Amino acid sequence: MKVSFTELGLVNTREMFAKAVKGGYAIPAFNFNNMEQLQAIIQASAETKSPVILQVSKGARNYANQTLLRYMAQGAVEYAKELGWKKPQIVLHLDHGDSFETCKSCVDFGFSSVMIDGSALPYDENVKLTRKVVNYAHKFDVTVEAELGVLAGVEDEVSAAESHYTRPEEVIDFVKKTKCDSLAISIGTSHGAYKFTPEQCTRDPQTGRLVPPPLAFDVLKAIEKKLPGFPIVLHGSSSVPQEYVDMCNTYGGNLPNAVGIPEEQLRKAAKSAVCKINIDSDSRLAMTGAIRKHLSDNPGHFDPRQYLKPAREEMKKMYVHKIINVLGSNGKAR
Ligand code: G3H
Ligand code: 13P
Ligand code: ZN
Repeated sequence: MKVSFTELGLVNTREMFAKAVKGGYAIPAFNFNNMEQLQAIIQASAETKSPVILQVSKGARNYANQTLLRYMAQGAVEYAKELGWKKPQIVLHLDHGDSFETCKSCVDFGFSSVMIDGSALPYDENVKLTRKVVNYAHKFDVTVEAELGVLAGVEDEVSAAESHYTRPEEVIDFVKKTKCDSLAISIGTSHGAYKFTPEQCTRDPQTGRLVPPPLAFDVLKAIEKKLPGFPIVLHGSSSVPQEYVDMCNTYGGNLPNAVGIPEEQLRKAAKSAVCKINIDSDSRLAMTGAIRKHLSDNPGHFDPRQYLKPAREEMKKMYVHKIINVLGSNGKAR
C-alpha cells in the first residue's frame, strides 16, 4: 500500500529551497541511523525553528532498516510538535539512491524527497536514470535531487582533482533534460572525516593544524550563472571539528590527520545558490567523542543511557551551532 508523505506530516523540498535560495541561507541535511541522532536533530531544529532534512543513506537502511527509519521520521514530526514547534518543516530524504527501484520504494513508502545518484555513470546514462526517477517521483509530488560531477575521495590519487568537478557547461542541459529539482555538485568537498591528505593541506604555523585547500568557488559561481536561482546541493560538508577529533584521540581513539571543510567556506556557500548542506561525519565524531570521554571518565558505567545521553547532548549542541552559525536557517520555519 502506498503512503503519501503529506499523510505523515512531512514536506518536500520545493518551497523550502526556493525560500533558502532567495534568503541566502541553506537547509541542514543531517543523516540519521538511530534514535539518539534523530532526537538531537529534532531538538535542535525545534529549538531554532529551522527547516530540516532527515537523510537516510544506504548504510542507514542496512543498519537500521528502512521501514523502521521511516516510522521514526513520522514519529519525529509528532515529537517536534510536542517540543512546541507548531508547524514543523521536516523532509524525509533518501540519500544517494543508487537505483530506480530504491527511489521508487522510498517514494511509495512516504519519503518526501529522494536523491538519485547517477554521478558515477556516463553523462547520458545519468540523464536517463535521473529522468526516470523524476518522472515517477513527480507523480506523487516527491522532489528529486540529482548529482553531476564526482566527489573526490581521500583514496583518490589527487583528491579534489579538477577533473572531478562538475562541468558548468553541462548543467543547463542536464537540468533541462532530467527536470530534477536540485543538483548536487562537486567543487572539492568529499565524504568522511579525511577529506584531504596532509600533502594537499598547508599547516597553521601557530597550531600546527592542517589547513585544507579552498573549495572551487569559481566553479560554483559559473554554475550559478548558468542556472540562476536553481537549488544547488553540497555533499561532504562536515567540518570535522578538531575538538571532537581531539576528544576521540584523547580517550583511546586513533583518527590521525582527520580534516574537513572549514566553516567559513560553508558559510560563504550557504549565502549562494547552495541551499542544502549535507552533514553526517560531524555527528559521528560528536557522538563517538562524547561516548569515549564518558566511558573513560566513568569506567563503571554500563547502562547505554548513561553514555548515550551526553552523546545526544553533544550532537544537539553541534546541530544548533551549524544551524545558527554556519547555515543561517534558524527562524525560517516558525
Ligand atoms: O554519503 C554518505 C553518508 O555519510 C552516509 O554514509 O552510507 O555510511 O551511512 P553511510
Ligand atoms: P560528510 O561525510 O562530510 O558528513 O558528508 C555527508 C554527506 O554528504 C551525506 O550525503
Ligand atoms: Zn553525500
